[in-house]
Amino acid sequence: MLNLVVLVSGSGSNLQALMDACNQGMNARIVLVISDKGDAYGLERARQAGIATEVIPAADYDSRESFDQALQQRIDAAQAELVLLAGFMRILSAGFVNHYAGRLLNIHPSLLPKFRGLHTHQRALEAGEMEHGASVHFVTLELDGGPLIAQAKVAVQKDDDADTLAARVLQREHQLYPTVVRWFSEGRLCLRDEQVILDSKTLSEPVQLAE
Ligand code: GRF
Repeated sequence: MLNLVVLVSGSGSNLQALMDACNQGMNARIVLVISDKGDAYGLERARQAGIATEVIPAADYDSRESFDQALQQRIDAAQAELVLLAGFMRILSAGFVNHYAGRLLNIHPSLLPKFRGLHTHQRALEAGEMEHGASVHFVTLELDGGPLIAQAKVAVQKDDDADTLAARVLQREHQLYPTVVRWFSEGRLCLRDEQVILDSKTLSEPVQLAE
């Protein structure tokens, strides 16, 4: 069983999709859910499932590094083998990112490298994109810039606004993240020399998840 730690700041719907996948036979278990926000609904989802939770309020720490050290201590104490950012709204320091090199994943609501950062749905609409989606990548020092593993696309509809588009992307995220974590749990996925290896082959572009 692969030990997962999931970091959330908000609703935790991706956390829910991961919990569901673990309950449906994935060879992994979520040992701890951590949030920087005490009122994150993701914490409630974890509690309801009997999963341990921790809140680490950023206000308790005087620097990014000291917050990240506290975070790292909790994660390592839980013996995490894979750390999943699932709507965790903080930039992580270099020491933290390097410590988890090859075992830290993020899900981002755009077809990276397009639209790093925030407000991705609105920006995709303003750019007149015909398709949009989500990406899962290994986390490196470049924000939303780590090696891409897989993407799920959605077609942009004429009458979409940022909310309708976000909702459709989120549905695809709930398929995408567990799929990638499953590959990792099966030993099929790793990062080597900043390259993504899946099934012993170097990926030259991200896997596109079928509808
Ligand atoms: C998702 O859109 C994810 O891609 C982004 O933050 C959002 C988190 O949603 N990083 P939820 O908390 O999993 O519902």
